[in-house]
Amino acid sequence: MHKRQIPTPSLVVNLEILRSNIQQMASWATTAGVDLRPHIKTHKNIRIAKMQMEAGAVGVTCATVSEAEVMATGGIEDIFIAYPLFGDYQLTRASELNKRCRLKVAFDSAQAAQRWSEWGAREKTEFDLVMIINTGGNRDGVRPEEALALAKAVHQLPNIRLIGVMTHEGHLHQCTDLESMLASAKIAAERLLWAAGSLRQGGFAISTVSSGSTPACHGKTLVTGVTEWRPGTYVFNDFSEMKFVIDQDHVALRVLATVVSNPAPGRFIVDAGSKVLSEGSLLGLGHGFIPCMPGARVVRVNEEHGIIEAKEDAFVLGQRIEIIPVHVCTVVNLSNGYYLEKLDGSLEYLDVDARGLVW
Ligand SMILES: Cc1ncc(COP(=O)(O)O)c(C=O)c1O
Repeated sequence: MHKRQIPTPSLVVNLEILRSNIQQMASWATTAGVDLRPHIKTHKNIRIAKMQMEAGAVGVTCATVSEAEVMATGGIEDIFIAYPLFGDYQLTRASELNKRCRLKVAFDSAQAAQRWSEWGAREKTEFDLVMIINTGGNRDGVRPEEALALAKAVHQLPNIRLIGVMTHEGHLHQCTDLESMLASAKIAAERLLWAAGSLRQGGFAISTVSSGSTPACHGKTLVTGVTEWRPGTYVFNDFSEMKFVIDQDHVALRVLATVVSNPAPGRFIVDAGSKVLSEGSLLGLGHGFIPCMPGARVVRVNEEHGIIEAKEDAFVLGQRIEIIPVHVCTVVNLSNGYYLEKLDGSLEYLDVDARGLVW
């Protein structure tokens, strides 16, 4: 099957770009002397996780226990759930998982550590815990100066071991230029290291110092002492990443859509709306980038309608166009699968194995 034969809207992943993105990040991690543990939330697919492992990743990162179960069933043996799991369902499933793979879990409160300890005792297992540090993103995590107090509060609990610290520098996505992004990435890494240092001084054996976001890794932010990177988006890249060092030649996933209506001069409708492109938008730049018509803007998305403003003769009815989505992770999660496009133009359909597994 070829791209012109598949129905639209569809997601198409260029295999050569995918391979090159995987290879490039693996070689940057080697140069930086850090372990690479890609976040699978972007592709949610076992085959691509295995490609990352074959390129040298030490394991994978997941956000949910059900994603981790899919990866473990697919044969990945080293998994970090970099999310502050708390619910009974999650802790019970993680306890089972802990017996069949090398599992690390994140936490950011004494109450959560207490629960991991209780579940460990009940399920006769011991958990490796990684403390989440807030390095500027103001999402989850304790501030670096709070890390030692939290470690002291939980260190006598049985069936848990504090082995590391982690951060996610999600706030880098808000930076508008490369210079400010690199400066923020460095500050975040330094805050993480400060937390690791204070824990070590307090007598805790911290072996994992894990940071991770695609912008920071693309910026090759080298701060000695970080042991692990967890980028996710780099595998496909998207319009958001094009703000920094990525150009469209490194974007592996595109949404293939058809122009279905041209109801007014300069207004075109494509069959990829919010149920395909998601609601993600970039200030002033819209809901996607159209490589064949860079001046066009996907200005709005309704469920099945993508509304494009462009010059009057930009597109013709029935034309198939590619759109680079703003935030590829949410786009993938909306889809059952994507087509992998090989060098000879042939396509292979891959399921989004961990689609929608939010618990
Ligand atoms: C905890 C955590 N680690 C790593 C990542 C990967 O970051 P990026 O999508 O910038 O590659 C994310 C992204 O949301 C995350 O939440």
